Amino acid sequence: MDMPPPESNIGDRPDASWADDFGPFEGRIWLNTAHQGALPKKAADELEVALAWKRAPYRIPDEAFVEVPRRLRSLLARLVGGHPDEIVLGNSASWGLQAVANGFPWREGDEVLLVEGDYPPTIHPWLLLPERGVTIRRIKPAGATLDSEELRTHLRESTRVVCTGWVNTYTGYVLDVEAIARVCNDAGARLILNGTQGVGAIPIDLPTTGVSGLSSSGFKWLCGPYATGFTWLRQDLLAEMRPFQSYWLALPDETSLDLNLGGEPRVAEGIGARAFDVFGTANFFNFMPWAAALEYLLSIGMKVIADHDQRLVDRLRDGLDATGYQWVGPGEAPLRSSIVALSRGDSDTNAKTVAELAGRGIDVALRGGRIRVSPHLYNSVRDIDALVAVLRQTPSTGV
Ligand SMILES: Cc1ncc(COP(=O)(O)O)c(C=O)c1O
Repeated sequence: MDMPPPESNIGDRPDASWADDFGPFEGRIWLNTAHQGALPKKAADELEVALAWKRAPYRIPDEAFVEVPRRLRSLLARLVGGHPDEIVLGNSASWGLQAVANGFPWREGDEVLLVEGDYPPTIHPWLLLPERGVTIRRIKPAGATLDSEELRTHLRESTRVVCTGWVNTYTGYVLDVEAIARVCNDAGARLILNGTQGVGAIPIDLPTTGVSGLSSSGFKWLCGPYATGFTWLRQDLLAEMRPFQSYWLALPDETSLDLNLGGEPRVAEGIGARAFDVFGTANFFNFMPWAAALEYLLSIGMKVIADHDQRLVDRLRDGLDATGYQWVGPGEAPLRSSIVALSRGDSDTNAKTVAELAGRGIDVALRGGRIRVSPHLYNSVRDIDALVAVLRQTPSTGV
């Protein structure tokens, strides 16, 4: 198949100029955002500020202990269409899922439904619940992704929570969030999503989806440092949840910090989702650059970024015909994400291709025995064309 003509403009900025906002990539092509997103230069600059503060601590303003989490929470709320009071600041996707697991008002005999094939962070946070009398049941979807009518047949009166991934880490399949949420809500169960592989790549307005909560890593499609994450919790779920921790810096956003603390320490009330924040909410090294990265992404617009990513996925799909590699995941939206799984035989063959690509300066991943390609904002059609060109010649022996 002929390659489509190169695009010169995507969104309101030339394709290649977003790449200039990142890196340097040292001549390599990073097509592995599903593992780690690259940090924008503006975010790296902000990390320098945090570093300067810590090198000379007299520079650390007292207000920063309140300002840093306030700014981050408000950006994350904007990102998902929520309110800052609904945002838990975390260090991972796992953090927020364990917060729900630990703070949910369980009753003896309750059940959590999990889905086979989900990535371990979606499963692990629930695993200690049997010690509290809660049953964990895993269901195996018949198809590539969980179908809402199929889910309906699995729900029981005792099912209080269903937790699954929005976008599949291995294949890129996108869950029909609204349909799944509807079935859960009909049955009186809460849908909690691991949104890690979707947030930042697919726009979402969480309050309109019917989902009760979503947790996400911050270091993939949201381009933050490693060990960042957040969770959005719907107000009615928040109202039911029981705090299981008390943190001296868990303060309402409008509070100014008084480090000259007097009086009796008390468990903070009326602080919304802040009650579940990871401690160290003014984590300067991580949260300052992450906030800058989010400001940068939001300034471009999540829809513009999603369209850009999807054009790169289209480019790869169109170029693949000539390569002998098979497109494993979904062909089109709404099932398709910015994660693409390719295969040419068994896991060993695919592993060789991944190694060969790495040797030629193109970084993709081997996941579930397949080649996973996950392009984002800093990639261009030229990156995809370079990948396709190598795939055409790979394996370099025997083909
Ligand atoms: C679906 C999914 N969730 C979560 C993670 C990371 O988990 P955490 O942020 O809890 O370390 C990954 C990838 O590493 C992932 O693919």
